[in-house]
Amino acid sequence: MLGNQKSNAATSTQPELPAEDASATTELPVQDDGSVSPSNVSAASSLYEFVQEHGRTFHKYKEGKYFLPNDQHSISKFLLKGKLGLAPIEKPGRVLDLGTGTGIWAIEFAEENPESEVLGTDLSPIQPAYLPPNCRFEIDDVDDDWAYSHRFDYIHGRYLLPFIKKDWNHYFKTIYDNLNPGGWAECQETIIYFQSIDGSHEGTALQRWNTLLLQAIQRMGRSATEALRCKTYLAEAGFANLGEKKFAVPMNPWAKGKEQKAIGSMQMQNNLEGIDGITMTVFTRALGWVPADVEKLLVDVKNDLQDRSIHAYITVSVNHGISRQSCAR
Ligand SMILES: C[S@@+](CC[C@H](N)C(=O)[O-])C[C@H]1O[C@@H](n2cnc3c(N)ncnc32)[C@H](O)[C@@H]1O
Repeated sequence: MLGNQKSNAATSTQPELPAEDASATTELPVQDDGSVSPSNVSAASSLYEFVQEHGRTFHKYKEGKYFLPNDQHSISKFLLKGKLGLAPIEKPGRVLDLGTGTGIWAIEFAEENPESEVLGTDLSPIQPAYLPPNCRFEIDDVDDDWAYSHRFDYIHGRYLLPFIKKDWNHYFKTIYDNLNPGGWAECQETIIYFQSIDGSHEGTALQRWNTLLLQAIQRMGRSATEALRCKTYLAEAGFANLGEKKFAVPMNPWAKGKEQKAIGSMQMQNNLEGIDGITMTVFTRALGWVPADVEKLLVDVKNDLQDRSIHAYITVSVNHGISRQSCAR
């Protein structure tokens, strides 16, 4: 499927790939379910320090449940070295977070930038009630026509593209039209496509599951890989000063180095927790599978997800660009 993507110079950046850890002495205290136990922490004390360094909210979010966090927000902050984004923004006045989910990005952005007014929008009203005074949420569908009474200085969307309609040119143009001159757009997406540094994922249940998942998402009129072309979409919408950074995230702690092991542990935890829900929904709806067959496949896929001899990774792509339009509304 990815081989059919339009080639474009704007999509050429590649993530730096992790290296295999050939050492047998670097065991981390990762438990069967992928969490890392604080009772086993001596071997991981440097890992703990690293996590603390790069994400001040790691222990605050889901406090006490796991030594390492297990959610996408934490993975994102880990990759971005504790930052919420990579666009070189300077005190943006009005900020919009599209598909805000729990609102955690919007809330943290508001806390870190008290001079900003942050609006988070989502289809679902799942955001908390107690908020920083400069943060609020609205129910909205990004696929609908936008009717904001003012433009924004920073529009951010994370893990959203696979959920919205396939007219991504329209999506990025709408973002452009809703920015003030000099305003920044930023998107961060996980491309749900497993690759490996050495072909070790080929022929696995994981690869079979992944191929089926991409087919199913396509049948639902969406795409889980289109985010690879974010830079092209930003350019075509008129954005300038384009920035793109891609990260290869190991699917478990197979890779060498404490940072790679930390991010791999979090990713494994995240995948193990999320895979039942997404697979059951998508495979039964779009592929017509019966739940028993989904469950059977998932037994093998979960084993693969924890198998350190499979050197697989997924790609996270972070893109930004500035609006160069000259007249404000
Ligand atoms: C994977 S979550 C990401 C949440 C958040 N952006 C984050 O990074 O924590 C995707 C979110 O997009 C929302 N969403 C999906 N389709 C949407 C749409 N058409 N308009 C607005 N929100 C949408 C979902 O409700 C969900 O909360």
